[in-house]
Amino acid sequence: GDVFTYDPGFTSTASCESTITFIDGEKGELLHRGYPIDQLAEKSHYLEVCYLLLYGELPSVEMLEDFEARVNRHTMLHEQMMNFFRGFRRDAHPMAIMTGVVGAMSAFYHDSTDISDPWQREVASIRMIAKLPTIAAMAFKYSVGQPFVYPRNDLDYASNFLRMCFAVPAEDYVVDPILSRAMDRIFTLHADHEQNASTSTVRLAGSSGANPFACIAAGIACLWGPAHGGANQACLEMLREIGTVDRIPEYIARAKDKSDPFRLMGFGHRVYKNFDPRAKVMKQSADEVLDLLGFENNPTLQVAKELEAQALQDPYFTDKKLFPNVDFYSGIILEAMGFPTSMFTPIFALSRTVGWISQWKEMIDDPVQRIGRPRQLYTGAPRRDYVDIENR
Ligand code: CMC
Repeated sequence: GDVFTYDPGFTSTASCESTITFIDGEKGELLHRGYPIDQLAEKSHYLEVCYLLLYGELPSVEMLEDFEARVNRHTMLHEQMMNFFRGFRRDAHPMAIMTGVVGAMSAFYHDSTDISDPWQREVASIRMIAKLPTIAAMAFKYSVGQPFVYPRNDLDYASNFLRMCFAVPAEDYVVDPILSRAMDRIFTLHADHEQNASTSTVRLAGSSGANPFACIAAGIACLWGPAHGGANQACLEMLREIGTVDRIPEYIARAKDKSDPFRLMGFGHRVYKNFDPRAKVMKQSADEVLDLLGFENNPTLQVAKELEAQALQDPYFTDKKLFPNVDFYSGIILEAMGFPTSMFTPIFALSRTVGWISQWKEMIDDPVQRIGRPRQLYTGAPRRDYVDIENR
């Protein structure tokens, strides 16, 4: 019969050609359209990086203004969407709410989303980048029992999100520029990461010609798992559980014990075998932000730094090339900003939406792409005849 390459976990299969993101795992390098992530994190900002990912080049002043205005025009949700939030139990995980609500957007924009029309693809892309922060913030508000806060389009993307999360009625809310900058940097550091599990999911879903909102919902579902985007929540919960530096050796011993399923969350990466360049920026950011917010003696940050130091002296981790990844320090910043752990992965999801959409658009435009259809190595029973139930 046919012979297939057996590649569980796709460690050696390139599923597409792409011009968006380049990763050199040995060198710890991450480039978006050629630009290094550390330069983008420091000098650029999230919506400019969105533009770069979507269109391939850095924008001029006018192009960026136009892009930002287009995004701002689409931040509101249809009022009927509120019914979807209200259908969830009040303690629903915000990732469950996001998967449902983003999937439901396909019903609101089905007839107006003909993916063979480049303009409609463009509008769908802008809608998703614009509405995901509103959806994530409303999932948060719902979980804390507060009224929804509608978007304010005179604010920048990060400030608007913070306000939608933290403003309460009858109180003035002024966005702290330190928080806004930190938020924007977290968005930027998560914007794209080539063919990771959730992005591959979006491409595979999209390869059948499915509605793009439904494809992004599939990406959100995949991101939720603790081996992927869910690691930021799992990491902070682990750091809290460790609690004090004297308990670190116990947890390191557990992570090394093959009979114990426990892993150091926020450690290790499929592609980075030296360091994760996003983790470097995130660590520096955690130091700055916690300092500015007066949390410099934050016990969780101290446990994180000591855990990193001890793990990096242990041959188990160095031999297997396990280093802190982007999720190791992001949760500490988000916690200091006032987010509950359940919001960490939704924030990852809204940041990654632009990456998913850029990759989806690239796939639709690629004449070589066909429906994604992996093969398998069948190891089940050979052909056999059906046996009537009374004879089994
Ligand atoms: N703690 C302890 N041991 C680990 C860890 C860890 N965090 N990660 C990998 N290992 C060991 C693993 O047990 C295996 O050992 P052995 O070769 O003796 O069987 C070896 O290292 C290779 O691990 P793997 O699971 O085969 O590697 P993978 O490339 O399939 O998985 C990973 C990569 C990120 C899923 C994994 O490192 C992991 O589970 N890390 C913790 C979760 C995490 O932080 N995920 C976030 C990833 S970055 C953000 C994102 O893009 O989502």
